[in-house]
Amino acid sequence: MTETLYLPVIVGSTRRGRQTPRVALFMHRRLAGRPGVESRLLDLAEYALPIMEERLHKREDPPPGLEEFGEQIRRADALLIVTPEYNSGYPGVLKNALDYLLPQYRRKPVGIVTVSAGPWGGLSALSQLRQVLLSLGALPIPARLPVERVDSTFTAAGDAADPAYERRADRFIDELLWYTEALAARRALDRDEQTDRHGR
Ligand SMILES: Cc1cc2nc3c(=O)[nH]c(=O)nc-3n(C[C@H](O)[C@H](O)[C@H](O)COP(=O)(O)O)c2cc1C
Repeated sequence: MTETLYLPVIVGSTRRGRQTPRVALFMHRRLAGRPGVESRLLDLAEYALPIMEERLHKREDPPPGLEEFGEQIRRADALLIVTPEYNSGYPGVLKNALDYLLPQYRRKPVGIVTVSAGPWGGLSALSQLRQVLLSLGALPIPARLPVERVDSTFTAAGDAADPAYERRADRFIDELLWYTEALAARRALDRDEQTDRHGR
């Protein structure tokens, strides 16, 4: 695969004093360090999307930032979502953002990293988010990367206090890129076929 793969990282927490960006920064740096990969942080706190009244493709008056958010997801080859666990689920702000779009997710692999203050790593949020992503037509990958006790395992600058997280993150990124490359290759074949058909 010679084309650059685009994998934006969605920061799923907007809470005041939030810690999820520590992990998002860490993942973003490791992902962007891979050859042939372009990445960018999509911070839901910066997008500040209002409560969803209708999906982007049905809106004539999209709220500020929504078209740009949609474009990032449209051009993505895969997504990496870094989400906190709130009350055994994922935050409403993340669901609100996801619900704005639909065709943009189709057949795209999604890696989910869950962040928790406690010792369980947010695995309840993981299973719920996987189910929602399947409904959106995306493909949550089987690999998981639960982050426990985020305040002591990651620094504010996005460094892992425990090097085990670096190894785990790299294995997780290997998996995500495997699916990303496989599906991007298939999409490229589909595009070539379409060009051939219309060229004739
Ligand atoms: C409303 C709320 C509910 C939470 N529920 C859980 C939970 O169910 N399980 C858990 O491990 N941590 C829970 N936490 C702690 C978060 O995982 C913790 O705040 C962590 O730092 C990640 O979220 P953050 O980005 O908001 O900081 C909760 C935090 C909030 C604000």
